[in-house]
Amino acid sequence: MKILIIGAKGTIGKYITSHYSKNHEVINAGRREEEYPIDISDADSIKKLFEKTGKVDVVICAAGEAKWGLLEELTEEDFHIGIRSKMMGQVNLVRIGLEYLNEKGSITLTTGILADDPVVKTASAAMVNGAIHSFTKAAALEMPPGKRLNVVSTGVVEDAYEKYKNYFPGHPPIPMKRMLLGYIRSVEGKDNGRIIRIYE
Ligand SMILES: NC(=O)c1ccc[n+]([C@@H]2O[C@H](COP(=O)([O-])OP(=O)(O)OC[C@H]3O[C@@H](n4cnc5c(N)ncnc54)[C@H](OP(=O)(O)O)[C@@H]3O)[C@@H](O)[C@H]2O)c1
Repeated sequence: MKILIIGAKGTIGKYITSHYSKNHEVINAGRREEEYPIDISDADSIKKLFEKTGKVDVVICAAGEAKWGLLEELTEEDFHIGIRSKMMGQVNLVRIGLEYLNEKGSITLTTGILADDPVVKTASAAMVNGAIHSFTKAAALEMPPGKRLNVVSTGVVEDAYEKYKNYFPGHPPIPMKRMLLGYIRSVEGKDNGRIIRIYE
């Protein structure tokens, strides 16, 4: 398969990339990627990327940002960071990416446990995760025949646990192999419109 991974240098993205690179053609994309640069918060940048990659079998997005902060400190502009990046970035990837998806192709988005089980300082991040869950369920109903759209929502993955553990007291770290199974299920299974939750 020809697999486009956005956020390929990130904690989650590089694990997925390493797995699929063994047996598939993988295109690594991200803001810092020299050959396939993309900023998902900019629709023109998404279009340019797909014009360069041409048609693909699989799109996996493991990218997207949102501002963390106490509700009383978050400004409207802070909320717009997540809306532009993690929310509309992924929505636009689907809108634009569908045109470049081969028959039987799939798109997998990434959200996270905050959508269902938020912690403090995540009003914005949880909000955009929840929006992507609703978007995925609705947009999947309109996928062209054979094409699929899912989202993987994990808890804090073990490779990021040190960074986030103080925000998530008592939450179990998700082993990277367990996290990867969510993406494998989305890419290689038959699910469409599914929120693949991996919280334990
Ligand atoms: N880490 C976790 O435990 C966890 C759990 C659940 C959900 N998530 C979510 O999963 C996603 C990936 O998490 P991560 O831990 O792998 O993050 P990460 O280590 O910070 O990596 C994020 C990757 O996405 C790219 N990226 C960020 N913003 C981008 C943009 N606007 N356009 C294109 N690429 C962009 C970055 O590339 P550049 O640096 O080159 O820009 C980087 O490669 C995030 O949305 C995160 O919220 C993470």
